[in-house]
Amino acid sequence: MFPKEEKRTMLRKKAQCLIRMKNKVIALFAENSPAAHDIGHISRVVKWTRIIARSEYPQDEEIRFLSRMAGWPHDTGRTVSDENHWDYSGDILLDWFKEDSFLSSLSVQHKERILYAVVNHWNDEANDFPEAIILRDADKLDSFGEIGVKRLVEYHHGNEEKIMRGLRLHYQMKADLKTKTARSIMEQGNLFGPIKELQRNLLSSRIKKLKLT
Ligand SMILES: [Fe+2]
Ligand SMILES: [Fe+2]
Repeated sequence: MFPKEEKRTMLRKKAQCLIRMKNKVIALFAENSPAAHDIGHISRVVKWTRIIARSEYPQDEEIRFLSRMAGWPHDTGRTVSDENHWDYSGDILLDWFKEDSFLSSLSVQHKERILYAVVNHWNDEANDFPEAIILRDADKLDSFGEIGVKRLVEYHHGNEEKIMRGLRLHYQMKADLKTKTARSIMEQGNLFGPIKELQRNLLSSRIKKLKLT
């Protein structure tokens, strides 16, 4: 096979794997849609992985592919349990790697890198591969802006105490953004603004004024 033809075949195979992964995730979430982590969240995270990977690694097609491949299944474990959902996402992925004809044809190295990004998407020190960092930044970006506020309220079913605790975590998430691209998306889109505003409103409504006379 000529090099050009070989490259085309490889790209076609990768595109098929992405479609396969996407369809499996859509089918799973159609049966069970976890609060604030529905297929809308997944699609936006994949969109952010594409944007971040393209901007950070414009010449590296492999990283761009692996970032999207990890984005689709990262929260499938939430259909099992919220707690330690990343481990369940890993279990589901391992099954898909075994049983699906397209996904099983991925190289061992690619499977391992996708798994690494998925099972460590909660861990800000898991930096062995670029796609793991890209996935975490993409996932965090969906917690900010108007959509982030909506998701936070939905996740805590409107419970103000829990929402306020959740809001504090957003400061850590913002500080832990690693890529230049994600930081600039936050900055330019003022995505922290709505988070700050919600926090200000909730805190203001709870100010106590005590009178002693
Ligand atoms: Fe997650
Ligand atoms: Fe997520």
